[in-house]
Order: sequence, then C-alpha cells, then structure tokens
Amino acid sequence: MPKTGTTAAPSSNKKKSTNDVKSTTTASSGSSKRQVPPSNGDALEIKDNRSNKTYTVPIAECAIRATELKKVKTDDPNDSGLLSYDPAFLNTASCRSAITYIDGDRGILRYRGYPIEQLAEKATFLEVAWLLRRGELPTQQEYEQFVHDVTWHTYVHENFRKFLEGFRYDAHPMAMLNSGIAALASFYPTSRNIFDERERDISVIRLLAKTPTIAAFSYRHVKGMPFVYPDNRLSYVENFLSMINRMSESKYEANPTFVRALEILFILHADHEQNCSTSAVRGVGSSHVDPFSAMSAGVAALFGPLHGGANEQVLRMITEIGNVKNVPKFIESVKSGEGGRLMGFGHRVYKSYDPRAKIVKKLADDVFRIVGVDKDLEIALELERIALSDDYFTSRKLYPNVDFYTGLIYRSMGFPTDFFTVLFAIARMSGWLAQWEEMLLDKEQKISRPRQIYIGPKERTYSSKLAKK
Ligand code: CMC
Repeated sequence: MPKTGTTAAPSSNKKKSTNDVKSTTTASSGSSKRQVPPSNGDALEIKDNRSNKTYTVPIAECAIRATELKKVKTDDPNDSGLLSYDPAFLNTASCRSAITYIDGDRGILRYRGYPIEQLAEKATFLEVAWLLRRGELPTQQEYEQFVHDVTWHTYVHENFRKFLEGFRYDAHPMAMLNSGIAALASFYPTSRNIFDERERDISVIRLLAKTPTIAAFSYRHVKGMPFVYPDNRLSYVENFLSMINRMSESKYEANPTFVRALEILFILHADHEQNCSTSAVRGVGSSHVDPFSAMSAGVAALFGPLHGGANEQVLRMITEIGNVKNVPKFIESVKSGEGGRLMGFGHRVYKSYDPRAKIVKKLADDVFRIVGVDKDLEIALELERIALSDDYFTSRKLYPNVDFYTGLIYRSMGFPTDFFTVLFAIARMSGWLAQWEEMLLDKEQKISRPRQIYIGPKERTYSSKLAKK
C-alpha cells in the first residue's frame, strides 16, 4: 500500500472501487500549482466500519488534509464524503503561515523566529511591522524609508473630520475606528487592485499611518476637543500621543517612559497568529475585497469582550470588585458560573503563563514608578494570587493573559477604559496586514467557505399561517 497516498480499498476485498483514490501529494487548483508540503511517508490509516474499507491518508507537518476525508464514502450515491466537524476551529489549521510561532504549552511567542522578549526589549514597533510583513528585519536604509513613508501618510482627507463629527458624543471609539477604517476604502478606490504589488504597498503604508490618526480623532471627538493634526517631526508613538494629548503647546513632548511603554505594548500586540480577528481579516480578505474593508473586519472582531475587548472588561471587573477584601467572594462567583468569567485569564492557545503577560507585568512596575501605584493594582494582584492557587483555574490551565495588566497601565497613562481596545487595534493592524498579504499570495488559498452539517427540517410544503386577506 503506498504510504504517501490516499487509497481506499476494501480491507477484505482488494478490488478497486470507485472510491479508490491514488496519492495526491501535489494537488492542483486550476492552472496554479499548489504549495503542498512534502509528505515524508507518514500516514494515517482510517477504517470505515460502514463499508469496511480502509483509507490511508498522508500526514505532513503533523496534519492531515481535511479534503482527504471526502474520499471516505459509502456506496450510497448521495454520500458526498466525510466531513470534519470542528466548531470554533479547536483543532483545524486554516493556513500554513511563516509569520508567528506560538508554543502554548511552553509559553513561547516568536515573530518570524525572533523571541517576543528580545523584540520587546530592543526593537521599535515599525521595525516589527516591517519584520512581520517582509520576513526579515529592515536594513538602516529600508527602515528610514519605511518610517518616512508611514510618517508622510499620517494625514487623513479633510472630509474625515465631517465624517467623524457625525458620531454621537458618546460613541464607542472602537465603533468609530471600525467605520473609519472601512470608510478609507472610499477614498482610495484603486486599492481594490490587490494583486498589484505597488497598490498593496501603499495601502499597507496608509493603514499603518492613518489608523493612529483616526483613533486619536475618535478620542478627541468623544472628549469634545479639537482634532490635533499629525506632527511629522515626531516618532510613530510620540505622534500618536501628541494627537491624543496636545493642547496649545507648539511642540508636544511626551513622557519618554510612556512612549517606550506604549511602543512595547504595540510590539506585544502586533500579531498572534490565527486568532479571531486575524481569521476575520483572512476570511473577509479571501473574497478579494480591498484591504481597508478586510481590516475593518479585524477591528470588528477585536471589539468583542472575549478578544481585544477583554482589556476593557478587566478594568470594569476590577472596578466592580471595588476592594481587595471582595476578591475571594468574586472568585467563588466565577467558579460557580454566577459571576461570569475572570476576564484577562485563560487563552485558547496558551496553557501556561502568556509570555506577553510576564513582560506587561514588569512594564506596569516601570509605569507605576512614575505615576504612582494604580489603586486597583492591589485587587489585580490578589485576583492573580488566588486564581493561581485555586484548583478550578490551575486544573483548566487558566493563567493571566496579555490583557490582565494592560488596562491598568493604559489607565495610569490617562487613557479612558473604552479606548483600551483601540490601542490594541493600532498595534494589531501590522499583524493583520502581514497575514492578509500572506493569504493573498498563498496559491493554496481560496475564498473562505466552511461547510456545515444541516440539522433543520426536511423538505416541507408551504402553507401560510397568516390571516387570509
Ligand atoms: N474564567 C473562568 N473560567 C474560564 C475562563 C475564565 N476567564 N476561561 C475559560 N474558563 C473555563 C471555561 O468555563 C471552561 O470550563 P469547563 O471546562 O468547566 O466548561 C474551560 O475553562 C475552558 O474554557 P473554553 O471557553 O473552552 O476556552 P476557550 O479556549 O474557548 O476560550 C478564552 C478562551 C480566552 C475566550 C477564555 O479563556 C475567556 O473567555 N477568557 C476571558 C476573556 C479574555 O481574557 N480574553 C482575552 C484573550 S487574550 C487576548 C486576545 O488574544 O484576544
């Protein structure tokens, strides 16, 4: 039996059936050759007890191709083959990616092979944004050009003022950011030429450059303060802080500890492989829509409290707990299911301490040294202490994630609670763009279109329940 192929043959009767399928290590899609990983001969044997047939499915990179299961069929002509059922993609890889590596059991996170700890300590956010997309660190010349380009494109069209002014005074800044990113598509219609490399380049630059501007304008709108235009003399992070905070001073000077802290937080949030928002960007982008529309799908997904919205929810939870003496009672309510989840804890991938959370905790010390200890830090530390010694959390491998302490840092820097997820979005834009382009250029990708198992009624005849007219 060939080890590298999918063969379907009755185990008792080796005569070929119509289901017999020969090895397909190089599948093809139309004229483009797919980049199928080589199989080293490893294979999975599947025995279907409905038909008594045995199938050999190649294993490559620790995975089998779900489409191989289609070949597992009975003789029923209506049987279109076996599906894999995986709600919420608990065990399904949707792509092969060279961008971010996570080992959730060992708490490892690397961008393009570089450990997150080293990048957080030594790199700048724009260096990381370049790395994520291009795969290598920029040379001095490449970096200077990139910084220049991003700085050059920070302004938005004047009509954006009117657009943002149309929002209510209490609009959530994530709703404004989401609409703002989507609206950019209307200003750059040629961005729809997504297979033109120059169009992709300029769209990537525009999105990295304008996201902080739209975010800052949303902030100022909610505060009822005049918009501050970008200042090209400043770095990416300083310029953002200037657009947030500047009043009448001729040149805004940000606190250097805040600048570095925000730069590190942006690096930590830049990418995290196939999370909910990145999958949304890839899924929407797979329809070949323009990048602004695809990125706005990412912002929408990030808004949710189980994803990027968790940092906001952590602060709300801590405020509700109110006092360190209420922590044990709150933990009990989480365990009984009555109090909701312990926000900022748990992760689909990390089953040990989130490596980003370790860096954030240290960063919190640096920031609190300057602004004084946040009044709610005591509550957060007590929540962490109790949870990490409680069997409910340890047996489920629930540890603090990146969002547990970020909210406290953001608040110390003066950001309002509902703005926290916007800060996450500014950073994650770099990862979404890299992932979007990787998806577009991956010849194996097609429009994203999951299957379903239909569980609704069988065919029935229409009979109106409305009153006769
Ligand atoms: N508090 C209490 N129980 C929890 C929590 C939590 N934060 N997270 C998971 N559990 C329990 C859950 O009830 C379940 O218990 P049981 O087996 O008895 O039913 C078990 O742990 C497994 O949970 P799950 O929902 O199957 O895990 P998941 O991988 O689907 O969810 C998660 C991952 C991040 C959505 C979840 O841990 C969660 O809701 N955490 C709180 C929200 C949060 O902090 N999100 C930010 C994630 S990190 C930033 C980002 O990437 O967006």
